[in-house]
Amino acid sequence: MTDQTVIPARNYPHYPAIMTPEQLQAMREYARRDPDGFWLQQAARIHWCSRPSIGFSGSFEKDVSISWFADGTLNASVCCIDRHLTDRGDQVALISQREAQGRSESLTYKDLHERVCRLANALTHLGVEKGHRVAICLPMVSEAVVSMLACARIGAVHVVLFGGFSAEGIAERLVDSGAVAVITANMAWRGNKPVPYKQSMDEALRIAGGNSGVHSVLVVRTSEEAVPMLPGRDYDFHDFVDNFEVDFVPVVMRAEEPLFMLYTSGSTGKPKAVVHATGGYMVWAAYTMGMVYTHQPGDVLWCTADVAWITGHTSVVYGPLANGGTTMISDSLPTYPQPGRWFELIDANKVTMLFTAPTAVRAMMAEGDAVVNRHKLDSLRLLGVAGEPISPDAWLWYHDVVGKKRCPVVDTWWQTETAGIVLGPIPGVQSLKPGSATMPLPGVEMVITDPQGKVEQGAAEGALCIARSWPGQARTIWGDHARFCQTYFAMAPGLYFTGDGAKRDEDGYYWITGRMDDVINIAGHRLGTAEVEDALGEDHRIVECAAVGVDHPVKGQALVVFAILRKDAATGLDEAGISRLVVKLIGRYAAPEAVYLVPDLPRTRSGKIVRRLLRKIASGDTNELGDLSALSDQSIVPMLRERVWGQM
Ligand code: WTA
Repeated sequence: MTDQTVIPARNYPHYPAIMTPEQLQAMREYARRDPDGFWLQQAARIHWCSRPSIGFSGSFEKDVSISWFADGTLNASVCCIDRHLTDRGDQVALISQREAQGRSESLTYKDLHERVCRLANALTHLGVEKGHRVAICLPMVSEAVVSMLACARIGAVHVVLFGGFSAEGIAERLVDSGAVAVITANMAWRGNKPVPYKQSMDEALRIAGGNSGVHSVLVVRTSEEAVPMLPGRDYDFHDFVDNFEVDFVPVVMRAEEPLFMLYTSGSTGKPKAVVHATGGYMVWAAYTMGMVYTHQPGDVLWCTADVAWITGHTSVVYGPLANGGTTMISDSLPTYPQPGRWFELIDANKVTMLFTAPTAVRAMMAEGDAVVNRHKLDSLRLLGVAGEPISPDAWLWYHDVVGKKRCPVVDTWWQTETAGIVLGPIPGVQSLKPGSATMPLPGVEMVITDPQGKVEQGAAEGALCIARSWPGQARTIWGDHARFCQTYFAMAPGLYFTGDGAKRDEDGYYWITGRMDDVINIAGHRLGTAEVEDALGEDHRIVECAAVGVDHPVKGQALVVFAILRKDAATGLDEAGISRLVVKLIGRYAAPEAVYLVPDLPRTRSGKIVRRLLRKIASGDTNELGDLSALSDQSIVPMLRERVWGQM
């Protein structure tokens, strides 16, 4: 197998390991022997109104039903705020570095309580009730965290939408989720580029029209920029919210009642919202962040993920706050206004744990060691990554140059659907192998199967599946349980299929080999190629198109689109026009790296597009195009080569 570097756990003598290797082993064995007993024990990590006595109920078979801690009741905002008020009410809970306004803000647990209660009262005043959906589309500002927790306090289901989605993308999600209220910003800055949040939201609400149930829009003023406000619908966030009472009695939720839903991409066109249940999710957030990040009071964890992704939910908000630490957010970029900006922020805020995406590590690496070495970085004790594969080279650079070989690097593998870390090391306890996300956490029964779904033993390579439910597992796809069953449970009956491929080595370490479906990962953002194809397919000027992912040195992967235009239409649509269309229909993050107009696409005799070939050609892989005998027309290959390589 791979030529592996192994860094023994003893290389971090100063790292406060939370257990011994023997205790970790005993924990795994207990979880295997008595899963319910194990998870009920872990459930004590969070505050319950009434403690559960039931572990898992349900099954991965047929109609798939998943339930955890069914008789427990709780409120997630109490787990994250109220339970800390007595012991550490004056400790900073949230640091917000608002780059755009050159302002830093620190909220203690008491401050957070006050702000969350005011907003919970304000939302209630606007008619938001338990079970209603509230869309949150905000940059990384403290109001984003406050908004999520205020929804949780009311029992409303938050739906955080990415600011990079186009108005069309937002409209589709507002309608699908049935949101009744929206919390957004007037605008934001990404580096020196303005991002018009309110304008996109207005446009989205116009597109959604009568199909949207949104009656109120709260607008956080993140800059002096004035935006049009619709009387009776739009409210200035602080002018409105700050008048409300500073106390709000949290709504008691049954464990299985939903806490939030979050849109993600899959291999079919329509974006889907996965639904997470309050009790299981909170236990999972506290457990995973407690085990891998060992995040505790006194730690400042900076997870650079956008709050609109699952990492932004679990590693920015719910995990760190449930464990009583300090979480930091920032709208900064690693290289703006100057390279090394993130290192300045680490020193200034005494960040103890940095958690980012491999794409950011690669971007920092490209700036060179000298930029890093200008900073002390001596507050750091742990470094982490998630979201996409990290090469051993980038891992070692992060470890040696940023972490000065003092800080363990935790490469954690997880998904929107898993809610938190599934594969990841216990730092200071397990040896690290750069490029491997280590092993499943205790209680996770990870398996590798062959293409027929047969479980492989020992060292193996195949489809990455999970054989037993875990508390943080998504319960369903909003409004489409059949799609949930089909997407995750059809590949291997009785197993949850992650969509990823992986190898397991002789030591039981897992190495992710990438997605096995048509999902690509651009700078840590998941995008279904079918999403792009469906969106473009609606434009009558385009006969057909195929979207594929190719490797990219910084973003990990990039999107390439091949399109056939209608011959008769004097369309005026060119490559740049198609690029603009993707940005308009999906969002800026999906902007293609390249677009090729072609007279035809490679197909099998039954008419299926051969994406494998397109990927190879688009990657400039000149040597090995593989077996072409299945193509209905082989003359297409030189034409495609000419089109793509002629331009390279
Ligand atoms: C990929 C992000 C390799 C994987 C937390 C997964 C990874 C998808 C890793 C989920 C990792 C995540 N190594 N690949 N450490 N972590 N992935 O839902 O393909 O945005 O299925 O959740 O990202 O992306 P999502």
